[in-house]
Amino acid sequence: MASFNEKTIYELNDEYSIILIEDFNNHLKIELYQNQILTYDVLLNDHQCSTITHKLCETKAELYNLLCDLLITMKSSISVTNSRYLEISLPIYFGHEKTRTKVWIFKIEFQRFLFIDNKKMDEISLDPLDWTEIRSLGHQIMDDMINYLSDIRLRPAWRPMPAIVRKAIAQTDIPLKGQSPFEVYDEVCSLVLPYSVGNNHPHFWGYVQGTGSLIGAFAEFITGTMNTMSWGGHQASIYIERQILSWLKVLMNFPNDDTSSGLLVSGTSVATIIAMAVARKKFCNRTMKVYCSKEAHSCLIRAIDLLNIGKENIISISTNSERQIDLKALEAALDPYSCGFIVGSAGTVATGAIDDLKGLANICARRPNDLWFHIDGAIGAVARCSKRLRPLFNGFEHADSIAFDLHKWLFVPYECGCILIRHGELHKSTFSQPAASYLTLMDGGITPSEGEVFFSDYGLELSRNMKSLKVWMTLKTYGIEKFGQIMEQNVDQAKHFVRLIEQYSNQFEVLTTGPLNIVCFRCIVSRSHVIDLEILNKLNKQMLITIQERGTAVVSPIAIDHNKFGLRMCITNHRTKMSDIDKFMEQLSQLADELLNLPEYSCLLN
Ligand SMILES: Cc1ncc(COP(=O)(O)O)c(C=O)c1O
Repeated sequence: MASFNEKTIYELNDEYSIILIEDFNNHLKIELYQNQILTYDVLLNDHQCSTITHKLCETKAELYNLLCDLLITMKSSISVTNSRYLEISLPIYFGHEKTRTKVWIFKIEFQRFLFIDNKKMDEISLDPLDWTEIRSLGHQIMDDMINYLSDIRLRPAWRPMPAIVRKAIAQTDIPLKGQSPFEVYDEVCSLVLPYSVGNNHPHFWGYVQGTGSLIGAFAEFITGTMNTMSWGGHQASIYIERQILSWLKVLMNFPNDDTSSGLLVSGTSVATIIAMAVARKKFCNRTMKVYCSKEAHSCLIRAIDLLNIGKENIISISTNSERQIDLKALEAALDPYSCGFIVGSAGTVATGAIDDLKGLANICARRPNDLWFHIDGAIGAVARCSKRLRPLFNGFEHADSIAFDLHKWLFVPYECGCILIRHGELHKSTFSQPAASYLTLMDGGITPSEGEVFFSDYGLELSRNMKSLKVWMTLKTYGIEKFGQIMEQNVDQAKHFVRLIEQYSNQFEVLTTGPLNIVCFRCIVSRSHVIDLEILNKLNKQMLITIQERGTAVVSPIAIDHNKFGLRMCITNHRTKMSDIDKFMEQLSQLADELLNLPEYSCLLN
């Protein structure tokens, strides 16, 4: 039998040969040579030898001896497969007089790729020479991220970044020399991961932030690896985006054909700029006024500003008791001599109110050449996934444009929004530019002049990342029905929270709620008291900050009727359970008692 320290070259199948050695770190090292060039190796410790052989060999010495024996006496039992596996299949004899046989099979995967072309030794690249190490980091990150999500309930909803962490991030100069990716990842684990805004947590109900999903995160990794540039041309990314836009047109009850157009964008803010730019193109150089309710989102003002439409052309319309745009007030305000961009909100940010979209469509239909009907569906549009909620959004079929987000209630990882435009040609003519010579279309190849869509002709960006894969994988994995159920669940949780607040009416009151997933509330002392509003607002602000800083939950601030400070709960969260809402209500009640015992609020009790 060969001794453990000997080096012998064993010829194998085809052009392969191997050497077995004990390396200086006391591993069993197996080197694989192809045509006498060292191509791969693998280092094995006792534990790995035992696992790989399914416990046939308990130690590296045992595996070494087994391999030596086989290579000398039964070479055909060892072969190289797929260029990087050593496959071992040996017969085991057992039973009376050893007449029965089973074949024991195991594989050893070579890990480190060692082949270096001498001619290229001085050329550098960002790819590693040794993929084994980086592979192990990749596996580690994958495991850690899955744990990060599976253990999310064990962590606070949010935690502030300690000064020492902020200092550690700020202290470093621009790196001149690289460092080990393992060290960089260690820094990510200590400086970055614990300090997100918290929106993946089951108790995150602030702002309108989606909760993402593991599948979406996997898609982000694949997208980053493909690193594809999605401006257009003959590549999968474009076909996936076209398919998604087609699905979304169907979901939004839009014409699902080439007369309409669309684009995946970073979010509703950009989608709104695009819609307004196309509308302005339609109206040529005429003055365009933007009509929206006073509850409409501030992204409209940004779009108006950027497109130089002029703030004097924003016409803010009052709302009715449901916080919907007042149609009569709108009609009265319409300027008969100028064009108009009429905005309907499909879920306002403050309360989730949904404007009468059919009513708005009817008004626009009376002057189709002058009025453009735009829907801001950032929050609510995707709730059309739910059969139960869909009737709230009637009127989508009449819109000239719909802007909405997939990173909110559709749980696609940030960022991802969408713009759909009814008038595809107009959309394209607003953004497309004569091709620079380096972008000239060809008769075939990557940039054929026939048949392919160039999404850079429909928006602000030439260089675009591939947003489509995370949407595609998310929609295909979970299906529209599941999203509809989650949205209904969130709406039911909001209704349940309203009922709980009513049960705790000696401590809390609902300020407003809407048909969707938003409840605005505040702590009160007693309905019968005349109370100092300034101190009550202060109490509620302190309550909001305490909830966040203790990591109990995240809710966000809201001013209702200008001067009442409230806490806003927006449940856009597939991880929230009904029991989380019950528990939160109890915690709120205890916190109210605790704060009201503080001297600064004692006057509220008198
Ligand atoms: C009603 C509404 N419109 C527009 C926006 C802007 O969307 P985004 O942040 O995706 O740009 C938001 C964001 O919350 C919103 O709630």
